[in-house]
Order: sequence, then C-alpha cells, then structure tokens
Amino acid sequence: MIVSEFIPKPYKSFLESGSVAYSSPSNIALVKYWGKKDYQIPANPSISFTLNNCKTLTTLKFSKKTTKGFSFDVFLDGVVQNEFKPKIKQFFERIELYLPFLTWYHFKIETSNTFPHSSGIASSASGMSALALCLVQLEQYLNPERTKTSFNKKASFLARLGSGSACRSVQGNLIVWGLHSNIIGSSDLVGIKYPYEIHSSFNNFCDTILLVDKGEKEVSSTVGHDLMYGHPFAQQRFAQAHTNIDTLIEVFKTGDLSAFISIVEREALTLHAMMMSSDPYFILMKPNTLEIINKIWKFRKKTGLHICFTLDAGANVHVLFPKNESSEIRQFIKSSLVMHCQNEQFIEDTLGDGAKSIKI
Ligand code: DP6
Repeated sequence: MIVSEFIPKPYKSFLESGSVAYSSPSNIALVKYWGKKDYQIPANPSISFTLNNCKTLTTLKFSKKTTKGFSFDVFLDGVVQNEFKPKIKQFFERIELYLPFLTWYHFKIETSNTFPHSSGIASSASGMSALALCLVQLEQYLNPERTKTSFNKKASFLARLGSGSACRSVQGNLIVWGLHSNIIGSSDLVGIKYPYEIHSSFNNFCDTILLVDKGEKEVSSTVGHDLMYGHPFAQQRFAQAHTNIDTLIEVFKTGDLSAFISIVEREALTLHAMMMSSDPYFILMKPNTLEIINKIWKFRKKTGLHICFTLDAGANVHVLFPKNESSEIRQFIKSSLVMHCQNEQFIEDTLGDGAKSIKI
C-alpha cells in the first residue's frame, strides 16, 4: 500500500548534520484498537485520551554518511539499547518511501521516558510518535514549505507505521483513529482530533495509572492483534467498537458520565475477553487487577462518584475520573488501591495536548 500524499517532493536543501528533539505523550484508549490488517490498518476505529505526564523525550542526531542502507544507534537514558534496533529497523523499512533521507544519514537516537522503564506503560506509543516527529522535523528543514496541519498529519501517519496506537499521541486531547461513518475526517491512516463538541465535564479529566505488574508482558500487542484473525468473536467485536463510538459521540456532547463509565469499562473488559477467548488464549490481568476493579465498583456504588477503570494490554489499571471529584477519589486511591501496586507505584496524570518540540 503506497499513500502518495505522503511521498515528499524533491528536497530543496541538504544538511550535513544536526539534531532535532521532541517530547511525545502516551495515550489511553477508551474504545480499543485490537486487531489489524496489513500496513497497520486497524480492524476497527478507536478513540483515546492523550496523556500529559507520561511521555518519551527523544533527541535525534544525524550526520551524513556515504555507506548504503540504514545506520543508527539507540540509547535509553544514555545506555545503548540494541534490543530496540529490530523494531526501529522495521519502522525505517516501512517508512523509507516517505522519508527518502533515511539512508543518507547515520542517526543517534537518544531517548528517555518520564515514567519508570518497563513499568508496563505503553512506551511504544510515546516512543514511536516521538521518533516520527523528530524525523518529520528533520524533513521540515529539508523542505520548509509545510503547514502545521500537514506536519502533524505526516507525523501521525508515520507513527502509525511504527506502532498503531502511536498515531494517537501526536495531538491532544481526544483523538480518533480509524474510519468511522459518523466522524467527519476520520481515517485509517492517521489519528485526528475529535471534531465535535466535548462537554466541560471532561475538562482536565484525570488518569491515575496503578502499576500492578511492571514485568515484561507475556504476550506482545502485536501477537494479540494477530490472534484476532479467525477469532470467533472478531466481527461482532469490530462492529461493537463502531457502536460504542456512536454512543460516545452523544456522551461527549451531553457530559453523561454514567454512560461514559459503562462504555469505557465494557471496552476494557471486552479487550481482555478477546484475549481470553483467542486461540491460543491468554490472560494479562493479575489478581491485583481484579482486586482494584472490585474496589472501584464498591467505592462508586457507595459514594456515587464518577470513578471508572480502563486497561491496556497488561495488568496495570488506569483509573479515570473528573477533576472536580479528584480530591475524594485521589484519597481513596491512596488509601485503598495503591497497596495492590508493585512497590506501591502509581502515576498521576491528566489529559494533555500532545507532542511538543524541544529546543536544543
Ligand atoms: C490494547 O499500538 O501497541 O493498547 O500496532 O502492533 O504496535 P502495534 O500495537 P499497539 O496496540 C495497542 C493496543 C491497546 C489498545 C489501544 O491502545 O487502542
């Protein structure tokens, strides 16, 4: 699949060497992307909150080389990370057509995360979007005539080819990725800002991430996506994602937080139900994930507060709640939920407005 819109015109200038830097946040899906077709095309549309504090900072140093092929080194917190190389090489192969300069330079990719490494938080979304943004920034130097809109569009397009969910991290704070008949401008190729009214109840929404299990995931997302092929419930699941987005459009307009909670929690549990019913089946939740969910349900019933949870492809729990209920809910999290986290670790986050260029 070649998307000609993203193939650049011949570059007007050339740089021998230099560096660019970007910070890009993680995001948490409300309606989940689980299942994909070739070329990183999602099997269903998804919608996510962009986070503010959980982010990857990447500096890309480039210097002209004469050898053929790709050449790059990757560092995390200053330490060389050869295990990241295959994924980045695959990313470069997928995007070379759209960034022909990739073989002209040797790259030094220096990256760090604001969240603990291997915390189980999706660092591929923030990491791949930060790298995509650095590359588009470099391209901008070679071909300066580009609007901010087309800059973000290309960054999201490329980020998706690194990791699907990464295309939702370029901008904030509510992003749709995947074609949906009732969302104008939605596309399988890029994430777009949610184009309709968002009720003030969602202003500064909070996400506290409870780090239940910081270990390496037993089954990667890529393997999980593949298991949706031939999954007995796949078609119903993909259709359900469309319907859930339709419901969310109404929820975002009216600010109906009870309806929001019901969609978001159902999506999280459906994602894990897909894992538990695939062939081979697997479970990524841990006993403490369920402890936390049960406590959230009990607390919500008792207090009537609008606290809910969602899950990624892992055991960690994202606790979502509106800002105006945050003091009571944060107290509950600290007194009753944090004890179920590994080393009592958790991260307090809120909605954010997307990636930022870093001056170096
Ligand atoms: C459960 O974006 O990590 O977090 O495209 O293979 O890199 P790849 O998958 P990835 O999958 C994320 C899955 C999810 C749901 C979501 O973020 O929508």
